Amino acid sequence: MSSTGEEVARIAEMLPAPDSRDAVVIRAEGIRKSFGDNLVLDGIDLVVHGRETLVIIGPSGSGKSTLLRCINLLEPLDSGRIWLEGEEITRKGVDVSGVRQQIGIVFQQFNLFPHLRAIDNVTLAARRIKRMPRAEAERRALELLARVGVAEKAHQYPQQLSGGQQQRVAIARALMMEPHVMLFDEVTSALDPELVGEVLIVMRDLALAGMTMLVVTHEMQFAREVGDRVLFMDEGRLVEQGAPADVLDRPKEERTRRFLRRSLQMAHSLEDLTITEAIEEREGFE
Ligand SMILES: Nc1ncnc2c1ncn2[C@@H]1O[C@H](COP(=O)(O)OP(=O)(O)OP(=O)(O)O)[C@@H](O)[C@H]1O
Ligand SMILES: [Mg+2]
Repeated sequence: MSSTGEEVARIAEMLPAPDSRDAVVIRAEGIRKSFGDNLVLDGIDLVVHGRETLVIIGPSGSGKSTLLRCINLLEPLDSGRIWLEGEEITRKGVDVSGVRQQIGIVFQQFNLFPHLRAIDNVTLAARRIKRMPRAEAERRALELLARVGVAEKAHQYPQQLSGGQQQRVAIARALMMEPHVMLFDEVTSALDPELVGEVLIVMRDLALAGMTMLVVTHEMQFAREVGDRVLFMDEGRLVEQGAPADVLDRPKEERTRRFLRRSLQMAHSLEDLTITEAIEEREGFE
C-alpha cells in the first residue's frame, strides 16, 4: 500500500472541512473515575487540537482505555467535564448518539458484526442512524474501503478477512460517520506482527490527511513518527507530555524512564530475561 500525495489528498477530501490547526477539538478537565474502590482516572486534564495526533502510552492498567471510553461517553465520569469543539458533552441531557457520531472509536478487537459483509458493517450505522439512502451509503462505503485498501473485500464476511483487513474495515466503519476526531485503542495489539504495518499505514495516512486523533498504542515507532505529542500515563494520572523525541528520548520523570526502559528491554533483549526477572522488574515498577 503506497501513500502518495494524491492518496492523502483523496482522504483529506473525505474528511470534514479542516478547522484551524489550533482550534481545540477535545478538552477534558479534572476527570475522575473509579470502579468500586479502584481509582482509575485521578484528575485528568487534556487538550487535543484540530489535526493533531496525540499518542498515549503507559503501563497496563494505567487507565488509557478508560480515558478513551470516557471521552466517547461509554463510561460515566465520577467528576470532571469534557467538551467537544466547545460544547460540553458531559452535561445532562446531551445527545449521546450525536456525540458518538462525531467521536469515532476503534478497539483492539475489531467488533465487526460476523453476519454482515464488510460493506454492510460499514454502511449499517449511516443507514440506520443517519438515514442515508442505501445507494449513497454504499458508494461512500466503497470509497472508504478503497482508502483503507480493502475495496476488493467489500462483499466478504469478516471471517473471510485477515485480522489486518478486519481492522481496516473497522476503521472505515468509524470514518463513515464523518467523525471530527478518532480514538484508537491499541488497534494493532491483537494482530499478527506482519499485519501491524498495514493498519499503522492507514492511521498514518489519516493523520497526514488532517484527522484529529487520540491514539493509545505500544508502537513506539508510530508514536515517534506520526505523533505530534506523546503523553505518558501512569496510575490514572498524566505523568508527562511533550514532543515525541522529548518524551521518548529525554523523559523528565523517573516513572517514564522506567516504563520506556522496560518496554525497550522487553522488545530487544527478551533472550536475556527469565520470567522471574521479568515479573520482578514489573512488580518493582508497580
Ligand atoms: N468495566 C470495568 N469494571 C471494573 N474495573 C475496570 C473496568 N474497566 C477497567 N477497569 C479497571 O480499571 C483499571 C484501568 O483499566 P484500563 O483498561 O483503563 O487500563 P489500560 O491502561 O487501558 O490497560 P491495558 O494497557 O492493559 O489496556 C484496571 O485496574 C482495570 O481492571
Ligand atoms: Mg487498554
